[in-house]
Amino acid sequence: GKGEYDHFMLKEIYEQPTSLAQAVEGRIDDGIDLEEFPPGAFEGIDRVQFVACGTSYHAAMYGALSLTQAGVDARALLANEYGASSPPVDDRTLVVAVTQSGETADTLSALRRAVRKGARTVTVTNVVGSTAAREADDSLLIRAGPEIGVAATKTFSSQAVALTLLAGRIVEDALAGDGLSDLDSLLAAADRLPGDIERLLTESDAAEIARRYRDSRSYFFLGRGQGYPVALEGALKFKEITYEHAEGFASGELKHGPLALVTEETPVFTVFTGIEDDRTLANAEEAATRGAPVIAICPADHPAADVADAHLEIPETDPRLAGLLANVQLQLLSYHAAELLDRPIDKPRNLAKSVTVE
Ligand code: F6R
Repeated sequence: GKGEYDHFMLKEIYEQPTSLAQAVEGRIDDGIDLEEFPPGAFEGIDRVQFVACGTSYHAAMYGALSLTQAGVDARALLANEYGASSPPVDDRTLVVAVTQSGETADTLSALRRAVRKGARTVTVTNVVGSTAAREADDSLLIRAGPEIGVAATKTFSSQAVALTLLAGRIVEDALAGDGLSDLDSLLAAADRLPGDIERLLTESDAAEIARRYRDSRSYFFLGRGQGYPVALEGALKFKEITYEHAEGFASGELKHGPLALVTEETPVFTVFTGIEDDRTLANAEEAATRGAPVIAICPADHPAADVADAHLEIPETDPRLAGLLANVQLQLLSYHAAELLDRPIDKPRNLAKSVTVE
């Protein structure tokens, strides 16, 4: 049941210190240690394609970045565009299906295409024995525990961390020994994650920020690097459960069109991860100049915290996990905004937990 919580969504947001501890348990020590993928498991792979939908697609984008940043050819693709875009696949291609339920029809169809084309396949899922887990060569469990709320929350976080660890293992094999840069920093951050989230949840100002901006016309979310999929996810969650208009953009894209929509009635939530933050701040300032309130999601002593109209604080951490922390603040923001509007948070209209039609 929901216990002391009004909604499953809030319960699942608050479960994240535990679900993330489970996601990394036994998987980090001096290096990344995945029992499913011993050293050498990804030898010979020179291209990685992630296929997924919705929130899982955002997690896939997030995971793909750790690979490209380390010099491995990787991209996240929408599972429902996979056939139509027909990207090259051969026996040196690893296709990773990212699906919390393991039953999403679009994702299964992309996975089956990859199998037909002779790719190596892996499913990253929350459900043991799901269709996607059974049909791929291997699977990696995210161990998030059951998620009842239709809007995915804790499964996104567990996917993001599991995919970042998986990316680390792929990099070690694909680049023959050269692992991720600053691996110690990443591992220490992964270890601190449950405690960091605990602190963030106790100290979050998301409810107050949701109240302050409740009468806005539209809600924008910006980010760069790992902050970009987080911006997309922040906007998806917001529209899903509040029914208000929200959009996520790569920070640098604002000036290429969306800036035309920016007014004093469009709060701009900006995610800072520690990667090219000065550029992201300049992008947020372009919105501020047009009168938009800027809400910075960043550590307390970050330069953006001073110049922004409001601030949602995240603990200082490795840039590859900072976006995940920022996302938890955005989950809370969406939750509180939906609550103020009296929306049926756990069961938004027109949506189902598992989409089993293409
Ligand atoms: C959004 C949400 C959906 C799912 C998508 C894929 O909150 O939950 O966007 O992420 O339908 O679902 P899975 O991960 O089960 O393949």
